[in-house]
Amino acid sequence: MTEKKGKAVLAYSGGLDTSVAVMWLSEQGYDVITMTADVGQKDVDLQAAKAKALHSGAVKAYIFDLKRTFVENYVWPSLKSNGMYQGTYPLVSALSRPLIAKTLVDIANKEGAVAVAHGCTGKGQDQVRIEVCATALNPKIKVLAPVRDWHFTREAEMEYAAKHGIPVKATAGSPYSIDENLWGRSIECGVLENPWNEPPEDAYEMTSNPIEGPDQPEFVEISFEGGVPVALNGERLHGVDLIKKLNAIAGRHGVGRVDMIEDRLVGFKSREVYEAPGAVTLLTAHRAMETLTLDKQVLRSKRQLEVRFSELAYEGYWFSPLCDAVGAFVNETQKYVNGTVKLRLHKGQAVVRGMKAGKSIYRHDLATYSEGDAFDHSAAVGFINIWGLPVRTWTATYPRQDAAEIPIEA
Ligand code: ARG
Repeated sequence: MTEKKGKAVLAYSGGLDTSVAVMWLSEQGYDVITMTADVGQKDVDLQAAKAKALHSGAVKAYIFDLKRTFVENYVWPSLKSNGMYQGTYPLVSALSRPLIAKTLVDIANKEGAVAVAHGCTGKGQDQVRIEVCATALNPKIKVLAPVRDWHFTREAEMEYAAKHGIPVKATAGSPYSIDENLWGRSIECGVLENPWNEPPEDAYEMTSNPIEGPDQPEFVEISFEGGVPVALNGERLHGVDLIKKLNAIAGRHGVGRVDMIEDRLVGFKSREVYEAPGAVTLLTAHRAMETLTLDKQVLRSKRQLEVRFSELAYEGYWFSPLCDAVGAFVNETQKYVNGTVKLRLHKGQAVVRGMKAGKSIYRHDLATYSEGDAFDHSAAVGFINIWGLPVRTWTATYPRQDAAEIPIEA
């Protein structure tokens, strides 16, 4: 008789790994409580997951539709920060982990559990994010990672599952490692591990091949309030529906395919493929909207902090003092990000084709070279005199030695 160790709350997908994890943790003496969440991954069946968890030996199975929470509390803050790791990855998987960790901890606190658990392997960053986020929220909670610890081969796992009466589908399985949510889809492993290989078409599900996309471009209008998209083509929608719709529209045109060599937190470079049609379109629109509505100095500082934000989110520091502080700065700026951006979707590209804002600090009377020019041309003389003063002073003190760019001959 194994000694009772208390309750453990396991992030449960319903797949083989986490089903085996339920059994395995039970055998170690834990009362396993599972948590399955819908964050917009396709084919999610919460009721079936619950039944399977209980069948696998869970004492209790929680299921949640977290799509709204995910969008409002994780995706939108990231969009406001133009979250793109290394300038290209829209943080798809990195955004769902803090939410999963928080939900595990919330349940653990309510249930008086001693541990939370996940099915990540020991090589990825999702383990880091879940564990760092969970312990940031509750430093006393223990974290269990059975899949990392148990050293089962795939075959041994199947055998173990069969022995314990866990139904296993003998599918060939995807040749890739996939993670998906409303904000996009991450595709890794298999032939992608050789960076010279072009990603095969079968890696993609949300986007069509841009070359084979519709010959006719399609225009979309995204309206922002407080930095958050509130309407698509004039129709007001909740974020969940707006992202879903835009995924379909932009996906049809092959927008949002990302293929990159990514610097992982765990020290090595990895070839990563993503598809995030809605995310890439919204990020393109949002960045543009800011250029029309934000002050120059604010924009400059914000662009620098966006890099930090993306690194923090990527590296598991969602619940950290710096992420909170950057978030507060970003929120202050977003009050002014109101207006509409028009984009053209065509053959893999989302291109900004126009924008407008009710309160715009773009001033036509200042910008125009035509009739109605309100810019004070004569003020340029004094401005340039003072702007150039430091460099004139420097050269007067340290004469420059630059050679002529070209031989000067008469
Ligand atoms: N490299 C990406 C990231 O770290 C994708 C992770 C995908 N996760 C997965 N379990 N397949 O954010």
